[in-house]
Amino acid sequence: MNKITIAIDGFSSTGKSTIAKQLAKHLVYVYVDTGAMYRSVALYALQNGFISADHFNQEALILQLPKIELSFKFNGDLGYAEVYLNGINVEKKIRTLEVSSFVSQIATVSEVRKKLVEQQQKMGEDKGVVMDGRDIGTIVFPNAELKLFMVASAETRAERRYKELITRGDEVKYEAVLKNVTDRDYLDTTRKDSPLIKAIDAIEIDNSLLSIEQQFDKVLELAKKAIKSS
Ligand code: DC
Repeated sequence: MNKITIAIDGFSSTGKSTIAKQLAKHLVYVYVDTGAMYRSVALYALQNGFISADHFNQEALILQLPKIELSFKFNGDLGYAEVYLNGINVEKKIRTLEVSSFVSQIATVSEVRKKLVEQQQKMGEDKGVVMDGRDIGTIVFPNAELKLFMVASAETRAERRYKELITRGDEVKYEAVLKNVTDRDYLDTTRKDSPLIKAIDAIEIDNSLLSIEQQFDKVLELAKKAIKSS
């Protein structure tokens, strides 16, 4: 059977990674979480003091970009690949509210985007990949055979993220999470380089009222159709 490229874009916390992981597992495809790559660069910038609440030294970050090496390693217990920053597993560290608050700024830097997009294109060159992010159907794989664009209300998304963080043991307030979600929507859709937009040939999925199972059934059907006609 032909292998295809599946691009899943959308706003933060729309459940892109849940559906992408399910699809990749079912189709035995590689799953790539591109948000994890931007988050890892944000973590690097925080660890090296390039970004804080009151300053962002873009030039220093750009100079250090060649020293940032990102890789993914499949974790059999979890059933998906975890992200490594210069050889260190940072999967947990990149999911904090602190990293979430800085990552959209990091994602505005064209040099960062160029580096990550090149790596993403390499990872998907043999097809058989499900990649989620903000610019996968528009910039990374404009010829992807299936493009999905996930949406859900800001409140639904903030609630999901809030529950995730609380379950992990993070002390956060719902209002702070909602603000982070709406702030990131703004930054992601208004940045100059590769803003979040729906590709014209993407299929929009509003999952505010869909269960995870309903969503999976719907998306799997679309994937099977795309594979058949590829
Ligand atoms: O999907 P996520 O919430 O983990 O993504 C984190 C941030 O990274 C998000 O605010 C925007 C940015 N991002 C991006 O600009 N382009 C991508 N392909 C993926 C993520």
